[in-house]
Amino acid sequence: MGDPVTSKCMIVVSNRLPFVLKRNEKTGALERKASAGGLVTAVAPVVVQGNGLWVGWPGIHLENPDEPIPESNPNDNTPTAGLLSKKVVPVCVEPGKFDSYYNGSCNGTFWPLFHSMPDRAVFLAEHWKNYYSVNELFAEKTIKALKSLLEEQSTATPLIWIHDYHLMLAANWVRQIAEESNLRLKLGFFLHIPFPPWNIFRLCPWSDEILQGILGNDMVGFHIEDYCLNFIDCCQRRLGCRVDRKGLLVEHGGRTVLVRPLPIGIPYDRFVKMAEIAPKVLPTNQKFVLGVDRLDYTKGLVHRLKAFELLLEKYPEHIEKVTLLQISVPSRTDVKEYQDLKEEMDQMVGRINGRFTTYNWSPIRYIYGQVGQDELAAFYRDAAVALVTPLRDGMNLVAKEFVACQINEPPGVLIVSPFAGAGEMMHEALICNPYEVHMAAEIIHRALTMPEDERTLRMNYLRRREKLHDVNYWMKSFFKAMGSLREDGDDGLPT
Ligand code: G6P
Repeated sequence: MGDPVTSKCMIVVSNRLPFVLKRNEKTGALERKASAGGLVTAVAPVVVQGNGLWVGWPGIHLENPDEPIPESNPNDNTPTAGLLSKKVVPVCVEPGKFDSYYNGSCNGTFWPLFHSMPDRAVFLAEHWKNYYSVNELFAEKTIKALKSLLEEQSTATPLIWIHDYHLMLAANWVRQIAEESNLRLKLGFFLHIPFPPWNIFRLCPWSDEILQGILGNDMVGFHIEDYCLNFIDCCQRRLGCRVDRKGLLVEHGGRTVLVRPLPIGIPYDRFVKMAEIAPKVLPTNQKFVLGVDRLDYTKGLVHRLKAFELLLEKYPEHIEKVTLLQISVPSRTDVKEYQDLKEEMDQMVGRINGRFTTYNWSPIRYIYGQVGQDELAAFYRDAAVALVTPLRDGMNLVAKEFVACQINEPPGVLIVSPFAGAGEMMHEALICNPYEVHMAAEIIHRALTMPEDERTLRMNYLRRREKLHDVNYWMKSFFKAMGSLREDGDDGLPT
């Protein structure tokens, strides 16, 4: 991979900054609101402690794009607490254009297409045009940020780490401008969602441009090998690239691009600690089957409710003893598909509860909203079963968070879909095809009646793997794949 790259000199580029900005209604001042995802937890400390920057959308439209970003609150104890505002590069996009790029292209086209749901995908040239120009804007901001970074530290070869389907075109512009300005850099890309097979990807009118955009990077990471092979297949069949399927390499434009499976993990120890201190919140006189998802049609929520209804029909012994606790976090609420799903879920929950509720029990507790981290850890810890049954999912971190929090003896049972990246590797879970709703009901029954020693055996294996392959391991694997670990062994990561 050429010169060693130090991870200390790194620019992270993602659609969202690691926090969102909110305007205080009384004072009108901008304030930071922390984000809790695994990516932020792992990567933010490297940017905080190293010579790094984070380029992204601030989550709010700023009339004046030069309005200063506030520093973090002194009481903030999140991973972005020490992230000085001078290390944050907000990308401000005019609202109409942003809507077309984010709701139109990212969430209206690429999200369903990449999750192999092409019937839901809308292909509009106008959205693509805005996707293209917002990617160009992110690239310009990144180069500007890079130049300022190099003024402070001119010797290192910086690493530009671009994230996800929002920014598949950015690398080529960054590379081009860098070459024109004689700047050395390494470009890495990680896709957090699946990469679809050729026969789905080819439906996209802009498939060539997307592949060429991604190939602008030196290394491209996906969660699992299947996604790597899908990508390589598309490069060969669509662009005619020479490829090496065993070595996971693609030749393009006189360069060789590395393709690597890098399954993301979670901040395991943090979840264990949260589970250890979280107060009990669930009643102990019944068992809880837990679902935690963004309200998204890829998560298989309608199938899940149907399976739970079938469980109660077929095994009435669970009536008044088992409750489904479904937490659905509002997401992309401006997109019609998401509004329709909310309606459908509301109606279904109402119907099933109307059918089975007794004077002292309801089968489904449905939370449409955010829950705090402490409460979530308590749910994960005290649930008897977790249902992670997406129709398609890049990885799914809920499955991993659940096992990390399973500190009770004997533990609960994880049910996971084979169509999530997590299902590919969490073999000791009960594997459940969410489309087969009758079988899903059987699997929930099996989980609820599983002997203690089998639960313990399965959970021990699951926990061991997630502890070992946590989010820091993922990040180190990424740097290693980039050839960025320094020869002196100091990888620049916080200890
Ligand atoms: C997925 C994507 C992320 C995205 C998240 C939430 O996990 O891979 O890039 O940030 O969903 O979606 P949102 O549209 O709210 O950013």
